[in-house]
Amino acid sequence: MSATRNASSSFRSFIDALREDDDLAEINVPIDANLEAAAITRLVCETDDKAPLFNNIIGAKNGFFRILGAPGSLRRTRKDSMRDIIQRIVKANDLKPIEPTIVSTGPVKENSIEEEDIDLTAIPAPMVHLSDGGRYINTFGMHVLRSPDGKWTNWSIARNMVNSEKTLTGAVAVPQHIGRMLELWKAEGRDCPWALAFGVPPAAIMASSLPLPDGVSDPGYVGALTGEPVPLVKCDTNDLLVPANSEIVFEGTISITETGPEGPFGEMHGYSFPGAIQFPVFHVKKITYRNNPILPMSAAGRLTDETQTMVGPLAAAQIMKLCQNDGLPIVDAFAPFLGQSVWVALKVNTVKLRAMKTTPKEFSERIGNLVFHEKASFFIHRIILVGDDIDVYNDKDVFWAFSTRCRPGTDEYYWEDVKGFFLIPFMEQGNGPAHQGGKVVSDALLTAEYATGPNWETADFEHAYPQHIKDKVLENWEAMGFSKLE
Ligand SMILES: Cc1cc2nc3c(=O)[nH]c(=O)nc-3n(C[C@H](O)[C@H](O)[C@H](O)COP(=O)(O)O)c2cc1C
Repeated sequence: MSATRNASSSFRSFIDALREDDDLAEINVPIDANLEAAAITRLVCETDDKAPLFNNIIGAKNGFFRILGAPGSLRRTRKDSMRDIIQRIVKANDLKPIEPTIVSTGPVKENSIEEEDIDLTAIPAPMVHLSDGGRYINTFGMHVLRSPDGKWTNWSIARNMVNSEKTLTGAVAVPQHIGRMLELWKAEGRDCPWALAFGVPPAAIMASSLPLPDGVSDPGYVGALTGEPVPLVKCDTNDLLVPANSEIVFEGTISITETGPEGPFGEMHGYSFPGAIQFPVFHVKKITYRNNPILPMSAAGRLTDETQTMVGPLAAAQIMKLCQNDGLPIVDAFAPFLGQSVWVALKVNTVKLRAMKTTPKEFSERIGNLVFHEKASFFIHRIILVGDDIDVYNDKDVFWAFSTRCRPGTDEYYWEDVKGFFLIPFMEQGNGPAHQGGKVVSDALLTAEYATGPNWETADFEHAYPQHIKDKVLENWEAMGFSKLE
C-alpha cells in the first residue's frame, strides 16, 4: 500500500507521504529542543516550507525522541484542497460510526518506562518560545478520556507544560470536553484516568481538534471518516484505549484537586502575555513508545500553523453543520487564515435566502442565536455572512466582501450573553469581560441579495470584459512581456 493511501491512518505513513511529496526536510545534524527546533519550525510556518523532521535531538537518550515540527501547517505543494477536507469532515457527522477494533498489542508497546524511572525534566521536551513558562512536551498530542459511565470517549488536543519530574500542567478549559470530562470525574470524587497519545493517525488528530457534539465518541467518528476501524490497544495502567500505532503514550491521571502554574505560552493568536494560570496537574504513571519514536510539535503563533489550519477551519465545518441541520441555506464555511481562527465566513445560497422572505436582522439574529450558544463556536467571535460570488477559501474574497458590503454598525449584530474565548487578546487583555460576549455576526450580504438578486457587475478581469477580448489578452500575455499566469 503506498504511503499516501495510508497517510490518514498512520503517523509514520503520513511522514512517508510528506517525504514522497518532497514536503519533508530531514535534519540529521544535532538540534537543541531548547528553542532551536521550535525556531526552525516557526520559520517554516511563516514561509509555508517543508515539515522539519529532527532526527538528532540533543539529549535524546536511547533515541527518545525525534521531533516532527509543523505537522499540519501549510505546504507550498497542496494536495488536498481545504474545501474537500471540510466537506469530508462535515459528511462524516452523518455516517454511521465505525467502532474501533481492540488489538492485543501494537508498535506503541515496543518500549516502556515505568513510573519510578520517569523524569520529565530530563527528556528533551521542547521549549517553544522564549518567554514560555516552561517546556511544552505536548503541543500536538491527543488526550484520551472516558466518562465515568464508560459511554463517551473523547479525544482532544490541549497543550501541556512540564511541571515536575512526573507531572504536567495543562490548559483545561470549560466548555472544552476535557474540562467537561474532568467535571464528571470530580462529581464521582475520583481522579480522572487519562492517556496522552503522540503521533496518532492524522485522521484522529483532526477529530481531536474538531468540536464534535457532546457525547459523540471520537473513535467511531474517525472510523466513519476514514472508512475503517481504528486499531486501539489498552493502556498498561488503566482501561483507556489508545491508537496501537501511536508514537508515544503517556498514561496516568488528571488530578481533581491539585493545580499548578501553566504558561505563559506563545499563543494561537500570535502573542505571549506575561503570567501563568493555575490549571489541573496531570500525573504520568507510565510511558510506552515505538522504536525510534517521533514527537509532533506545533510552534503556535502568527500565520500559519496548526492553530490556524485546524482550529478555525474545523470549527467552521461544525458551524456549517449546525446551520444546515437547522434548515439554513449555508453551503460552505471556512475560517479565513488572516482572521487567525477568530473569524468564520459562511456562504449563503441567496436563491434560497430570497425564498425565505426574511430580513437581514432576522436572518443574522437567527444565525447568531443558533451558533453562538454552541460549543462549536467557542473560539469564533465573528461570523461573516457572504453571498454566492464569494469563495470562502479565498481570504481576498472574504475581506473584499466584508470591507465593502457590511456597513459598520447597521449590518452588525452583537452577542454579549454568551461564553467568550478568554485567550483572544481583545478579551483577556481588552476592555470587556474576559470570558463573556464580544461576539458579532457581520452581514456582508447587500440588500439586493435578500430582495431581487445581485444587481452589480464585478469590476475585475473575469466579469468586466467580453470573452473574445479576454481570450485575446490571455493568448498574447507572455508575448507582451508579462509573467506566466498560474
Ligand atoms: C495545535 C493545537 C493546539 C490546541 N491547543 C488547545 C489548548 O491548549 N486548549 C484547548 O482548549 N484547545 C486547544 N486546541 C483546540 C481544541 O483541540 C479544539 O477546540 C477541540 O474541538 C477540542 O476538543 P473537544 O471539542 O472534544 O473539546 C488546540 C488545537 C490545535 C490544533
